[in-house]
Amino acid sequence: MSDSNIAEKYRITVIIPTFNEIENIENITKAVLDVFAKSDINGEILVIDDKSKDGTIDAVKAMQKSYPQVSLIVRESDHGLSQSVVEGFEKANSEIIQVIDADFSHPVELIPQFLSAIESGADVCMGSRYTKGGDITDWPLKRRLISLGATFFGRVLFPEVTDPVSGFFAIKKDVVEGAELRPRGYKILMEVLGKGRWQSFKEIPFTFKDREAGESKLKLSTIIDYIKQCIDIGLYALSHHETSVWGEWKKLLKFGCVGLSGIFVNTGILYILTEYAGLYYLVSSLFAIEASIITNFLLNDSWTFNDKVKSQIAEKWKRFVSFEVISVLGVAINMGVLYTLTEFAGMWYILSNVIGIFVAFAWNFYVNRHVTWKENNHLK
Ligand code: GDD
Ligand code: MN
Repeated sequence: MSDSNIAEKYRITVIIPTFNEIENIENITKAVLDVFAKSDINGEILVIDDKSKDGTIDAVKAMQKSYPQVSLIVRESDHGLSQSVVEGFEKANSEIIQVIDADFSHPVELIPQFLSAIESGADVCMGSRYTKGGDITDWPLKRRLISLGATFFGRVLFPEVTDPVSGFFAIKKDVVEGAELRPRGYKILMEVLGKGRWQSFKEIPFTFKDREAGESKLKLSTIIDYIKQCIDIGLYALSHHETSVWGEWKKLLKFGCVGLSGIFVNTGILYILTEYAGLYYLVSSLFAIEASIITNFLLNDSWTFNDKVKSQIAEKWKRFVSFEVISVLGVAINMGVLYTLTEFAGMWYILSNVIGIFVAFAWNFYVNRHVTWKENNHLK
């Protein structure tokens, strides 16, 4: 990490990773310098290049003659977008770091908004294509589907972040100091969120514009790397309880315990109503199911998600209705899987049911986490 007295030199460092960006590098650098000038920001630009062969390096060197706030690092080995960004984190001469692409996909005029979000207390500020006001232009359907799939997995780990694979973000340097980043692939933000220390965040909607000049470098191996990265982040959290992902693991465990307690409630009520109130057992079962939904809700609301709740009674009713609907759909999913696997896959119905229970459990957790208990530490 850089020397602490130089670390104060600039208010923000804008990292631009590049690989063969001769068509963009000069314009993007000027565009960022323009934003600095207009908003009166004492900022630095750090170009991290992976030995481009197309003249990108010479173009940056030429600019450095007129602009001392432009720095260049040419990396000799271990090439890759994420690795380059991490090297930029280490070399940045300021406490606030912004990452952008070189190809104008990210609107640089938003940089002052990122800066002010961090200066007002957010640990991380990410540009989002998937929050209200965000969008993507010129992306083919295939690329959109891949991105949506990636976002879906990312949201298992970071339920409150709408675009965890965005390449447009700013952080406080503290967030990554001491974090064991293992950068690979394209999704450096995921790595930062997964391994870094952060609490508050802010999202800024933006429209992603696909590159007009040069070629995108997204490959199939990128997708495989991404899946490995998600697993790695999930496992890392098991031994690093300061991460936000550990908080999700705890919720999942608690949600599971509550689910188990529901089985006891269900069985107890079924027995009592059938044996002592003389109800037909299928009628008792309806009451038993509802009773366990209610106790599950109360336990999840006051324990599993106690950091997410608003105390007003009207809000609590809303959460209850949401939980009820999701639970009933969960029962339908359980039965749907039971029926499908038994009838069409010839599976033993007990096994089909166990699988059904797991699928319904995953459904219940994911959807409740994203709908019923979605309140967050998102700075408005
Ligand atoms: N140093 C370095 N090394 N830079 C690289 C490398 C590399 O191996 N590969 C790509 N870059 C640079 C490019 O020069 C560009 O500035 C930026 O990283 C993004 O590369 P693109 O190839 O244009 O990315 P993309 O448009 O496919 O992907 C974008 O979308 C992703 C989200 O879906 C990027 O914004 C990613 O950052 C983002 O994660
Ligand atoms: Mn691009």
